[in-house]
Amino acid sequence: MTKNKTIKKTKKNKILKTDRYILEEIIRVDHAGEYGATRIYDGQIAIFGKNSKFGKIIKYMADQEQEHIQTFEKLIVKNRVRPTALLPIWGIAGYLLGATTAFMGKKAAMACTVAVESVIGEHYGQQIKQLGSDQKKLKRTIKKFQKDELEHHDIGLENDAKSTLGYNFMTKIISVGCKTAIAISKKV
Ligand SMILES: [Fe+2]
Ligand SMILES: [Fe+2]
Repeated sequence: MTKNKTIKKTKKNKILKTDRYILEEIIRVDHAGEYGATRIYDGQIAIFGKNSKFGKIIKYMADQEQEHIQTFEKLIVKNRVRPTALLPIWGIAGYLLGATTAFMGKKAAMACTVAVESVIGEHYGQQIKQLGSDQKKLKRTIKKFQKDELEHHDIGLENDAKSTLGYNFMTKIISVGCKTAIAISKKV
């Protein structure tokens, strides 16, 4: 009985030590992604203002993104991970995406959030599986952030994202863009 239990536990906690290369990729890409997220919401707040009723909803999400980026900035330093060389590009791309969708209207801005946060939520889910038991703290951090991102996703849906004209097409394009940015930022 005891023996079986031990075996199960070993199987469940398969990854004991996180591969250094994978750890670097995770921190690099999350740092890039969270930076991009702050820039998307900056772009949207520039259009809606932070004091309007709608702007306050965006500001609520933007404040959480600030907490996320600050955490990854610390992790970059602590773990001596090279940040992506494309940070300035993601900063501009994120801002333009935020401002453009906001310019299209409230629903389009929320459709952008739904598309981005569903990719990030899924991406964080994959990372949680990749991290070993030597990275419990980082795992907890990513789980917490994943919860925030999925909350942002739901806020988007609650705010009529799906009734945006061309919702499927728009979210598809944004989703492909995010996935491409993720793939590049892991390496470059
Ligand atoms: Fe975030
Ligand atoms: Fe988010």
